Amino acid sequence: MPTTFTLNGRRETVDLPADMPLLWVLRDGLNLTGTKYGCGVAACGACTVHLNGEAVRSCQTPLGDVEGVEITTIEGLGTPEALHAVQAAWIELQVAQCGYCQSGQIMQATALLATNPAPTGAEIDEAMDGNLCRCGTYPRIRAAVALAAQKLQEV
Ligand code: FES
Ligand code: FES
Repeated sequence: MPTTFTLNGRRETVDLPADMPLLWVLRDGLNLTGTKYGCGVAACGACTVHLNGEAVRSCQTPLGDVEGVEITTIEGLGTPEALHAVQAAWIELQVAQCGYCQSGQIMQATALLATNPAPTGAEIDEAMDGNLCRCGTYPRIRAAVALAAQKLQEV
């Protein structure tokens, strides 16, 4: 049965198995490859997207659960002309190393700032704890989340 949802602001309908992980729907069904496959078992955060504004692991979200849901992926967060504050901070502080984990990190960080616009260092650490980075960019991630929070306070 087709599943309809909003994806990055546009209505989308797909006819794929209801038990297919959303990660595969995005990457293989809709060619949105910014969301990454890391572990497939909710242990790394590389596949993080927003469902109704909340950060979730798309590898563990069956397509059948997103009927009517508003989905945002890294492709829908900002544009090159109008970056999200988190993306701008990421660039300013040159956070990425290999880059593989970074879209998940950014989606996790933007969900945090949407609900807690002025997080403490401890709150940033807690929110970002489940997003792994094999390159060890954690200090720059923390700094970029704090910088984005600061910039968002200024606007
Ligand atoms: S691929 Fe989903 S949490 Fe690792
Ligand atoms: S930047 Fe390489 S895994 Fe995070």
